[in-house]
This record gives sequence, structure tokens and C-alpha cells, in this order.
Amino acid sequence: MMKRANCRNLIQLTRRHWWVVMILLLGRPAYADEGMWLPLLMSNTHWDDMRSKGLRIDPEDIYSLNNTSLKDAVVHFGGGCTGMLVSDEGLMFTNHHCAYSRIQGHSTVEHDYLSEGFWAMERDEELPNIGLTASILIRVEDVTQRVLAAVNQKMSETDRTASIRRASQAIAKEVTDRSHYHAEVKPLYYGNQFILVITEVFRDVRLVGAPPSSVGKFGRDSDNWMWPRHTGDFAIFRIYADANNQPAEYDLSNVPYRPRTFFEISAAGIKEGDFTMVYGFPGRTQQYIPSWGIRNFQHHTYPAIVNIRDHELAVINHTMGLSDELRIQYTGRQARVANGWKLYRGVIPGLERFQVISKKEKEQQAMLESLRDNPEQYAHYLNLLAAYETAYDDILPLQQYNTYFSECFWRNPLFRFIFRAYRIPDMDMRSEEGKPAIAELTTDLAEAVHGFYATIDIETEKQILSAMVQLFTEAIPYEELPSLLAEAKQKYDGDYTRFIERLFSKSMFSNAEDTYRFFRHWKRSSPRRLSRDPLFALMRDIVEHYMGDYHPALQDANRSLDSLHRINMQLLLTVHSTELLYPDANGTLRIAYGEVAGSYPRDAIRYHHQTTLEGVLEKHATGHPDYEVPEQLLRIASPEYYHPYSTDGTMPVGFIANNHTTGGNSGSPVLNGYGHLIGINFDRAWEGTMSDLNFEPSICRNISVDIRYLLFITDKLGGASYLFDEMVIHRP
Ligand code: ARG
Ligand code: ASP
Repeated sequence: MMKRANCRNLIQLTRRHWWVVMILLLGRPAYADEGMWLPLLMSNTHWDDMRSKGLRIDPEDIYSLNNTSLKDAVVHFGGGCTGMLVSDEGLMFTNHHCAYSRIQGHSTVEHDYLSEGFWAMERDEELPNIGLTASILIRVEDVTQRVLAAVNQKMSETDRTASIRRASQAIAKEVTDRSHYHAEVKPLYYGNQFILVITEVFRDVRLVGAPPSSVGKFGRDSDNWMWPRHTGDFAIFRIYADANNQPAEYDLSNVPYRPRTFFEISAAGIKEGDFTMVYGFPGRTQQYIPSWGIRNFQHHTYPAIVNIRDHELAVINHTMGLSDELRIQYTGRQARVANGWKLYRGVIPGLERFQVISKKEKEQQAMLESLRDNPEQYAHYLNLLAAYETAYDDILPLQQYNTYFSECFWRNPLFRFIFRAYRIPDMDMRSEEGKPAIAELTTDLAEAVHGFYATIDIETEKQILSAMVQLFTEAIPYEELPSLLAEAKQKYDGDYTRFIERLFSKSMFSNAEDTYRFFRHWKRSSPRRLSRDPLFALMRDIVEHYMGDYHPALQDANRSLDSLHRINMQLLLTVHSTELLYPDANGTLRIAYGEVAGSYPRDAIRYHHQTTLEGVLEKHATGHPDYEVPEQLLRIASPEYYHPYSTDGTMPVGFIANNHTTGGNSGSPVLNGYGHLIGINFDRAWEGTMSDLNFEPSICRNISVDIRYLLFITDKLGGASYLFDEMVIHRP
């Protein structure tokens, strides 16, 4: 009897959830190669799959709750990148592009470390970086039950969010009250699960070595987001701690941090098909949003970003051609703007080519079909889809407004500088709290003025701003414009150059000296003068309009969407289980695994998995300025110098693999089956950059620097092979 009942249940279950059966039949995750797995949630299904692909060490060696494991050697670098420990004296690798602003900060006319590279030849030459953090994971715990105990079904979405925030803060506080650790509760699966993440944050992180940009940024924007790639995108740091091996602010008396473990290096080489694993901190992905969400991105948000940045880059590129000084001044800004611009120019065609919208529609349809035998669930899902469609239609104009606001103004450095004074006119100059607060703010601003104005050129800023006002007023309906822009639209009849000229000619913010003097000599009449300054007034009008009319509505709309995502995810989880669905990236430590793999990105094109120094020379021979090569590298670019980093007469530079990565994974250790370091992740191949929304195994590839190139450059170009004494290097 029992048996027959069970059997019937199973049949019912399988009839309803036919794809569960398909997955069971396949006997492996539906998302092989795809996925950024949270170690805490990984099961034997994953480890077995990894073993079958070439993993040779124990899961416990990779991630353990109680013992030392490789997770102790992965570093969250400065919040936005990853890094890895490679010696028992706190030595750490990350990417050159993650260290770029730090290297720039140490550079002067006499010591231009960006162009010449930097190599500390002894410990006391290592350069401190105030404000830079290196965080190492202590522990992750599932706290879902505790967090969800604070909510109930009847709560409004706003109350729910507030209760979850309170519960999360209380849980984190228990940790921070009794330790020096940092603690944070993070949602997974759109708030269906919660984890407590406990980290140790180091604050004395010193620069040890960086190749010249002609190596570390070789190929610049021409090659960014592209394979074949020949960039030696690495930099070397060292973490320092106090005498008790605990985090401390920078201090000369600090000593190298002694980590619980570190990565050993394999210089034995790689071949296509070899197991690879990326251990790092991916920032954000949205793998589970429905077809309408993709539509909004693909047809609206991304094209808008590309269009706005096209105009901004046209001005910046023109400026950079005018003089060396301007070129240097704008390189950092140019790289930042161009990075996102080029990314979305890769994502949009990827979404088109793989017809992601219709793929999602089919998945939604299949889900619906699978629920057909259960009228209640069927209706529930049907309602969910309808609600999704309405929610994405409703949010679209808000998203567009938000995109134009952020891209045209909020991201603009001059706009943001002026915004720092935003609150001043509303502050009470006479009150007890007001007086010192204003004094502090104006002193800070006065101190920041010259540093900030040294990074911009006013003529260029005028051109950028008039282009931005033009784009904004064309895209946003007249009735929705902030009043000063609506006025300008009428008055200047599309000639925003004149509008902006006028604003700058009457604004103190058009030059550093006036701005400095204004904040330096604060008077009773100053707040009034500030309010009347035309650039300040424009900034204030734009921000107030956004904060008043758009921001709250957008937040509401996003909250509604989040609750739909939560319901959708809950459903997906009952069908698939967490074993098969990885949570979207959220800046927590993840494992992606796969293999070294070339690809067929376009008709008749085959990507080989590895690049070599030969390719650097080939690109250099084109004479293009992005492929400049330092003289010393040209001299050693020949097989007699490759030993012992290469044995077959070629010098490997980069390789691609099918590991699922995203922004934040830069600087992640790329490991072989033994957990040894074979490369440093730094980018993705253009054709597969839609992987944040949709991973296509045939084409999505992460790009890494081959660790042998790091060793070769550090030794033969930097003359810093003394650093290898602290490392463990396995040679062929
Ligand atoms: N595309 C890489 C990532 O998104 C950045 C590479 C930096 N290089 C450059 N030329 N911008 O961060
Ligand atoms: N370049 C990215 C980073 O800095 C990595 C990526 O998006 O693939 O994290």
C-alpha cells in the first residue's frame, strides 16, 4: 500500500515538474559551467561534478567551517575587487586595474610609477595606501530562520523590509560587540535566505610591485573586454598587521600579516580542458529576472547608457588629443567611462544573438505548463507573470529617468563636487549644532578645491555639460524636466552651449581660485550667495526634482519588483532546490568552476585558449599607441630569457576559461585541480559579456593573466625575483 502511494506521489510530482525529472536523468546540475556557487550551500552534487572535471583536493581543503582552508587566502580587495595571499608574510596579488588609482596616487613627475612601474626592493620601500582595505572571510552562517522570524505574511513590503533590516542589524551587532570583526547579514535568492558574513578587515595594505602600464594595461581600451588579450594585468601588495597579527591602521611598527594559509603557485603550464576554479567576490548578477526585465535593459537602459557615453567620450577623446597634460588629466576618467560603454556594447548584441527575451518567455511558458495539473499553483504563477509584466511596464519611465539622471549628471565629477555643498543653504548658521557643522564642511571643501580642480579642465567640462543637458532635455518629456532645464529648453531653443556658457560665466565654480576663496572665507552672506550661484542652483534643482518626484517612486517600484522576484525565486527553488540554482552574485565569496577552453565566437573564427608574448610583439608592430611596449620588454622578448618560466620557447601571457565571473571577480585567483594558482582573473571576452543576465557556455569566457607571465615580468622586467623566496612555486 505504502509503496503504491509513494509511487503515485512521485508520478504526480514528476508530471507536474517534468524538468526535475530531466535534471535527475541527466544526473548533474542543469547549469554545468554556469554558476557562482556559495561554498556554504555547495553539496556533494557540486563536489562530485568538480571531481569528475579534474578537482584533486578535498572540499574541506577549499572551504571548511572549522579548519584552515583556501578560503582564508582569498581577499576582498578595496571592496570592489578580489586578491589572493601568496606567502606567509602577507604578500598578495591582485590586478593592475584594481590598483590603478593607488599607483596613480603614488606617481609624481619624478617618479611616474604608472608609466615606469614600481618595484620595492626591500620592505621599507613598500608604499602605504591610506583608506585601502583588505578583508578576509572568517565565517559564514545561515541565519534565515532568525531573520524571517521577524516577518509575517500580512506585513506590507515596506514593513517587511524594515523588520528584516532591524533583525539583520541585531544579528550583526552580536558579533561586532564581542570581537573586532566586521559582520553583515546579506540576503540570498531575493530574500528567501539570509547569511551572516563575518570578516576581518585589514587597513595597512602596502604596494610592493606593479609593472608599467604598457604591460599592466597593455592594449588599453582597444583590447578592453576582448580576447585575444595580451595584458599583464597584475599588481603586488602586502598586508600588514599589529604585533598580535590583528588589523591596525597604517603604522611603521606594523609587521607583515601572517595568514592562516596562502596559495601555492603552479608554473607547470596549462592546456585546453584542464580543470579551473575561480575563487572570488563577484559583485552583481541578475540571472533570474523575467523576459520583461531583459527587455527594459536591452531596449532601453543599456542603449541609453551607450548613447550618453558616446557623447561624453567624444568630448573627452577630443580633449585628450589636444596636449599631453590634458591626456594625462583625463585618462582615468576616460577609462572609467569607456569601460561601461564598451561593456554594454558587448552585452546588447549578446542578448540579441542568443534571443534571451524569447528564451526567457519560453522558460516562463514551460513553468506554467508544468503547473497545469495544479489549478491553484497554475493561477498563482499566471498572476505572477501578469504582475511582472505590469510592474516592468510601470517602472520603465522611472528607470529611464534614473538612467538619464545618473548618467548625465550624478556620475559627473564637477556636478558631484558642487553637490558636496548641497545642504549648506538649509543649515542653520546660528544654532549650536549648525555653526561647527558648517565650519567643518566649508573647511573640507576649501581643502578639496585645488586637488579637485587639478583633475578637470573647465572648457572640457562645459562641453560635456552642454552635451548632457541636450541629451537629457531631448529624452525626458518637457513636463517632467526640472524647472531650470525646462526654462532653458524654451529660452535657448536647443542651443545649450550658450546656456552653459552663461552659467559658467556667472558661477564661482568655473574656477578654482574663486571657489577656494568662497569656502575659505565663510561669511554670513555666503549661504545666500551660494543659493544664487547659477551652477549650484542648477545642481540643486536637478537633485531636488529627482529626490522629490522620482527617487521615492522608483524605490516603491523596485520594492514591488523585489517582492515579485522573491515569489518567483521561491517557486524556482521548490522546483530546482538550491543544489541546482546558485544565488545571484552579491559581493559574497563564490566558487566558479570549469575548464580552460577556447571558443568559436563568430562564424569561421576560433579562439585559441592561450596568448603569448609573440602576440604582444605583433600588436606592437601595428604602431598603434595602445600597443606601446617598454624598451626593456622588447629586449627580453626572446626565448633565451624565458627560462625557467617557460620551457617550450614561447612565453604565455593570458588564457581563457569557461568560468562564470562578473565585475568584482577581477583579481580572483584562478586555480588548478590541486588548488594551485595558475592565473589571475581580470576580464571577460566581449561576445559573452551578457553573462550577468544569461550565461551561454559556448561563448562566455573569463580572461586571466597566466601566472608564468607574472613571474617572468616580476623577475626579468622588475628585477624583483627576491619576492619569490617567500612563495611556494611548483615548476614543471
Ligand atoms: N574590463 C575590466 C573590468 O571591467 C577592466 C579592465 C581595465 N582596463 C581598461 N582598459 N579599462 O573591470
Ligand atoms: N573587469 C571586471 C572587474 O574588474 C571583471 C569582469 O567584469 O569580468 O571585476
